[in-house]
Amino acid sequence: MRNLSTASADGFGEVPRLDSRALRSALGQFATGVTVVTTRDRNGDFVGLTANSFGALSLDPPLIVWSLRLSSGNLRAFQDVERFVVNVLTDSQVDISRLFASSTPDKFGSVAHAENQYGLPFLHGAAAWFECRRVSQQVAGDHCLFIAEVEHFANADGAPLLFHGGAYFTLGSRL
Ligand SMILES: Cc1cc2nc3c(=O)[nH]c(=O)nc-3n(C[C@H](O)[C@H](O)[C@H](O)COP(=O)(O)O)c2cc1C
Repeated sequence: MRNLSTASADGFGEVPRLDSRALRSALGQFATGVTVVTTRDRNGDFVGLTANSFGALSLDPPLIVWSLRLSSGNLRAFQDVERFVVNVLTDSQVDISRLFASSTPDKFGSVAHAENQYGLPFLHGAAAWFECRRVSQQVAGDHCLFIAEVEHFANADGAPLLFHGGAYFTLGSRL
């Protein structure tokens, strides 16, 4: 590991500046599921993006975490609203993952979805859904970290879509 210099990250003091390509590659060894986080912005428009920073944080109370790049065009929407939905994708939804990671303008136009009691979109065919209310947001480095309480959830039978080393995978054999 190369430690070239130090830089200040908001609230995190001096942190080592590492080779970012190597770091990205090492982080890519951590296989994750894939989610699309959706909400409705102040103007009433649906917004959503692909995110694999999602994680379980606490069971009692039920809390989840995810993070959003500060340079994201979706940042304002998610900082403004209190509620959002985390849609956990199945391995038959790789096109949806690609769509919601793109800059395509009307992402919801081609994706089957419905609305929850708050009018927030959730995607048909997902492996699980978590309807969340934000309890904290904090800038951490170049991302905004959201912690949210799970108000409602549901899950289905589909196999999860996996992401590893910059590529998509399906679940392998059970060990
Ligand atoms: C598998 C995968 C996971 C991603 N996870 C995140 C994430 O956790 N947070 C994030 O800010 N962007 C993540 N992205 C990138 C966003 O999906 C992408 O930048 C966004 O949809 C494009 O809109 P924006 O540029 O306005 O953010 C991910 C992309 C992919 C393909």
